[in-house]
Amino acid sequence: MPAAPEPEILAAFEAAKGFMPVGEGLALYSAAVEAGRLGLPLLEVGTYCGRSAILLADAARQAGVVALTVDHHRGSEEQQPGWEYHDPETVDPEIGLMDTLPTFRRTLHRAGLEDHVVALVGHSPQVAKVWGSPLGLVFVDGGHTDEHANADYEGWAPHVAEGGLLVIHDVFPDPEDEFTGQAPYRVYLRALESGAFTEVSVTDSLRVLRRTGAGI
Ligand SMILES: C[S@@+](CC[C@H](N)C(=O)[O-])C[C@H]1O[C@@H](n2cnc3c(N)ncnc32)[C@H](O)[C@@H]1O
Repeated sequence: MPAAPEPEILAAFEAAKGFMPVGEGLALYSAAVEAGRLGLPLLEVGTYCGRSAILLADAARQAGVVALTVDHHRGSEEQQPGWEYHDPETVDPEIGLMDTLPTFRRTLHRAGLEDHVVALVGHSPQVAKVWGSPLGLVFVDGGHTDEHANADYEGWAPHVAEGGLLVIHDVFPDPEDEFTGQAPYRVYLRALESGAFTEVSVTDSLRVLRRTGAGI
């Protein structure tokens, strides 16, 4: 049986602002619980308002490890004003730019999970450049351009420990299915073709891969 979150954690996930459907959330949670057994931190690229971070935080709490979540909190291309995924409530009225950090902090506080998460605020490649220790799980849900998706893969996948999991969101093999593009799909293919990762599960657009070899 895959691990499932307690009802209050699932309710907090469902109440949080964000884009991840419940089915994918449950698959992410189950992967995070499994990866937590390695006793290594779990890292997410793409915090937004903390919806998926709730699940990683709860899995980390259970495992006695920490969840790390990376975001510059200024939003992806498709979340900017005028785009389909824009939410005007995420704009800081003082500077007129998106700032999802305050909502993220409220989300985690309400879920009672603040003590299990470290927020890394900055551009993912810059944070990855100074990161130096192994991770039990890397969840890639950041920018959806080829430049961003490849940089996230190149920056973070090398840190996935042997037996650890690489989880990729928004993998759409059919270009008709997603207007934000197929960069995550291309990164998923790249990971499989590297020979370093083996597929564990497919849940809608969420792919879970395990490190079974060296490199990326
Ligand atoms: C699709 S949202 C993440 C959704 C979140 N995982 C959830 O479940 O609600 C993508 C996030 O990635 C962030 N992002 C995009 N490119 C980034 C980059 N290069 N460095 C850091 N964060 C980035 C955006 O600011 C945005 O909040």
